[in-house]
Amino acid sequence: MSYLISFEGIEGCGKTTQLEMAAKFLRRSNIPILTTEEPGGTPLGDRIRKILLNRESFDICAEAELLLFVAARAQHVREVLQPALAKGQWILCDRFSDATMVYQGFARGIDEKWIKKLNDFATMSLKPRLTLLFDLPAETGLRRALQRMTNLPENSKEDRFEQEGLNFHENIRNGYLSLARREPDRFRIINAAEDITAIHKEVCRHLETLRKNS
Ligand code: TMP
Repeated sequence: MSYLISFEGIEGCGKTTQLEMAAKFLRRSNIPILTTEEPGGTPLGDRIRKILLNRESFDICAEAELLLFVAARAQHVREVLQPALAKGQWILCDRFSDATMVYQGFARGIDEKWIKKLNDFATMSLKPRLTLLFDLPAETGLRRALQRMTNLPENSKEDRFEQEGLNFHENIRNGYLSLARREPDRFRIINAAEDITAIHKEVCRHLETLRKNS
């Protein structure tokens, strides 16, 4: 059985670290896995990622931003995700369609119905079987994320979204929580303010449940 599992949350929530730890855990259990990220995961996606996340000297309007995220996703689904699922792999994906609903919908204010249509088109209606939402106060996450950036060279800072104010990040958090309330069967909310080992244990528990039910 193959699954798409997405890891979501605000900036600095620790999802990428947890994804790597989860990948090790699944490998130890001999589950064939693939780890990937959005935007990214393909040569096109990596280029789009640079345009979208690195601070550049040009503006990107909300509508262009949305279409670029969705374009990267369309390529990712066809080039990487569908073939991996066909091979029976479990995919751990660092962000997926929910991020677009929340960032470009809730926070940027683009119509949700329109985003849903675009997401369905890009993904051929592929949805994660499980979405782990790493939840913590926006202030804590933003502080962590900005701290992490300070040691990076200027040209590799992926901080266009981190430059947004606290209010933007609070909207992101609330947006994710409201998606989780709408689809309680798919989402698991994890308290990302806990320590790293406790969070990992909880992630493993959810993955084990999925495995037992497969
Ligand atoms: P991350 O790899 O650190 O999660 O960075 C990805 C950034 O891109 C993050 O700020 C969220 C943002 N994003 C969107 O705004 N829309 C999307 O559809 C995706 C996948 C990410």
